[in-house]
Amino acid sequence: MNKLLSASLALSVALLAAPLVYAQDQSMQEAAGRQLFLHHCSACHSLDSSKNAFGPSLIGVMGRQAGSVPRFAYSKAMQTSGLTWTQDNLRKWISNNEALVPGTRMRHVSISDPAEQDYLVSFLTTLK
Ligand code: HEC
Repeated sequence: MNKLLSASLALSVALLAAPLVYAQDQSMQEAAGRQLFLHHCSACHSLDSSKNAFGPSLIGVMGRQAGSVPRFAYSKAMQTSGLTWTQDNLRKWISNNEALVPGTRMRHVSISDPAEQDYLVSFLTTLK
């Protein structure tokens, strides 16, 4: 193998490995997810307490049945969605909520960057 080729191979391996190392750092992911949450979600979802705001409380959302927070006026679509909030479903929800639950009352959200989806989902997991 010539030198140039092996150097460029080494470089691309290093570039590929970098985001993996970063992604392994759980607390950094959560911190990034918190920023995304503050930016995209906190206008309607409160973090201060388990109170409902314009949107339902997301405290304890991971593993919860969709549309199940008491005293929150969900859409019919959400109440009958039959979904459980797994990591997978949360990822689909934030990438295109209206595709996952047509007729939802939540304003359209579309976070398309897979890394940002990871961060946000790992932050949501911390809400207990
Ligand atoms: C404009 C206000 C608004 C914004 C912004 C918003 N939401 Fe919502 N969210 C709602 C409303 C309203 C509902 C209830 C939807 C329904 O009943 O159809 C909801 C529902 C949800 C649910 C389902 C909860 C349950 O109890 O079943 C999740 C999860 C959720 N939102 C996460 C998010 C995340 C994450 C963001 C940011 C990326 C976000 N939301 C941004 C208003 C909002």
